[in-house]
Amino acid sequence: MDSLLSVSNICKTYAVQVLSNVDFSLRRGEVHALVGENGAGKSTLVKIISGLIRQSAGSMELNGRPFAPGSRMDAEQCGIRTVLQELNLIGNLTVAENLFFTGIPNRFGLIRYHELNKAAAVLLDRFGLTGVNPRMKVSALGIGRQQLLEIAAAMSCESPILIMDEPTAALMDPEVELLFKHIKEKRDNGSSVIYISHRIEEIKRIADRITILRDGCIVGTYNAADIGNDEIINQMVGRSMDQVVERRSQASARIALKAKGLTRRPFFHDVSFELRKGEILGFAGLMGSGRTETMRGIFGADRFESGEIYLDDSQQPVSIKSPRHAVRNGIALLTEDRKEQGLFLPLSLRENITITNIGAVASRIGWINHEHEHAEADDWIGKLDLRCRSPEQKAVELSGGNQQKLVIAKWMFRDCRILIFDEPTRGIDVGAKVEIYKLLNNLSERGKAIIMVSSELNELMALCDRIAVMSAGKLAGVFDRGSWSQEILMEAAFSEYLTGERRNPQSPLDEGKDETGPVNHETSNLS
Ligand SMILES: Nc1ncnc2c1ncn2[C@@H]1O[C@H](COP(=O)(O)OP(=O)(O)OP(=O)(O)O)[C@@H](O)[C@H]1O
Ligand SMILES: [Mg+2]
Repeated sequence: MDSLLSVSNICKTYAVQVLSNVDFSLRRGEVHALVGENGAGKSTLVKIISGLIRQSAGSMELNGRPFAPGSRMDAEQCGIRTVLQELNLIGNLTVAENLFFTGIPNRFGLIRYHELNKAAAVLLDRFGLTGVNPRMKVSALGIGRQQLLEIAAAMSCESPILIMDEPTAALMDPEVELLFKHIKEKRDNGSSVIYISHRIEEIKRIADRITILRDGCIVGTYNAADIGNDEIINQMVGRSMDQVVERRSQASARIALKAKGLTRRPFFHDVSFELRKGEILGFAGLMGSGRTETMRGIFGADRFESGEIYLDDSQQPVSIKSPRHAVRNGIALLTEDRKEQGLFLPLSLRENITITNIGAVASRIGWINHEHEHAEADDWIGKLDLRCRSPEQKAVELSGGNQQKLVIAKWMFRDCRILIFDEPTRGIDVGAKVEIYKLLNNLSERGKAIIMVSSELNELMALCDRIAVMSAGKLAGVFDRGSWSQEILMEAAFSEYLTGERRNPQSPLDEGKDETGPVNHETSNLS
């Protein structure tokens, strides 16, 4: 078969070997999926192909000629565009500038902004980002929309090879559909796509071939039609795996937190709900529906303009002015954006885990008990099956999914009563997802009250006692276990967009902000 790109015997060694003798080929006009557990080496392989890092050994060929890109730009000039796992937009530039970073229309060196913004608006439209103003700074967009923007930027180029490293991690079904439509178009036009995702159903739908990586080695390459979901997972983890998690409902009648009329325009409006001890309360909604913003409000990261929060049975509202206040009141927030808000990347795993609760490993007079600290770090690394060289490895060196596990370990260690998880399984492989589900189950059994924001309805339906659905900043409904179905939840997620209250009711993926309205930079990383 006609191979456009081939990779032979590629090895990559950092302190240890992370890729061993990898052979991989990409045909013209195919979508080739790359799957494997967290830390298997997927991102490393595509970074080598896209010129970001160099292999330690092995060679590549593009169009039958030796290919050794010295930089990302080099690879781009050879027709390889990449959407990286970690977002790569420049926060200080506008949406339009980011979209056309390499091809900004200019005349005698002057940027033609009118043209630029017009072209950007067309592109934004194609990706369902109708309400996003091309003049807006990228840092003001939520993570989901940033991801779509990055995808749009890469797809706007006519490159023969497109690489996407977990493009859908922050997206929900309707956005994924849109992306797939564009990928299929590309393929039909003869482009080739390397597609990385932990969502096996997605892979089965979009891929022509699937290559499985385990611990830096290729396990095999299969025609997507010839391999079942279970088989893919077994090959990935090297054993057969129990994927089903049963929710043993433990919610008590006692209130842990009550939110009343929380409002922060234009992000959320009149949000009221109760969270009970031992409960897992899900929060569903489309991108930009206000879930993350509501959680940040409760955590004191952003102020809300009106509304109250009550803890336990208290009739007196608490005033949570800052995240520090929230933590003191026993509330933890695990953010969706681990790079920006969750981790201290230059520090070791051990320090990242213990830093939020240094008191727990310190003696009464303040000395840190290193033995205790190491034991705690080892314990969490084991519990979450966090793949690392040692607890002293720096967080920045971990694979994307393992960084996510580290954020979880960090907050678990700080013994909070109310835990808010914003997309806890984003970018996490199937095996580790099950571990996280079990962990949430265990925590709720110990009486912790848990909020889980997720874009994956299946996971919410498997795990939650109740599911709250947000739509256009409002709480569209709270559903009990047994009273929901995928259709009911999706209908609720769309409901507020269809009532005609909003500027552009046809576009549920809309930004929801006035085009010329103020852009609040405080609220970066919201979705
Ligand atoms: N700069 C680095 N220094 C040392 N080790 C690294 C570095 N970058 C990656 N690694 C290691 O290489 C291995 C493979 O990482 P990689 O990011 O390729 O995994 P991945 O398959 O993309 O995982 P994920 O699904 O979590 O994104 C991991 O064990 C990681 O810790
Ligand atoms: Mg990766």
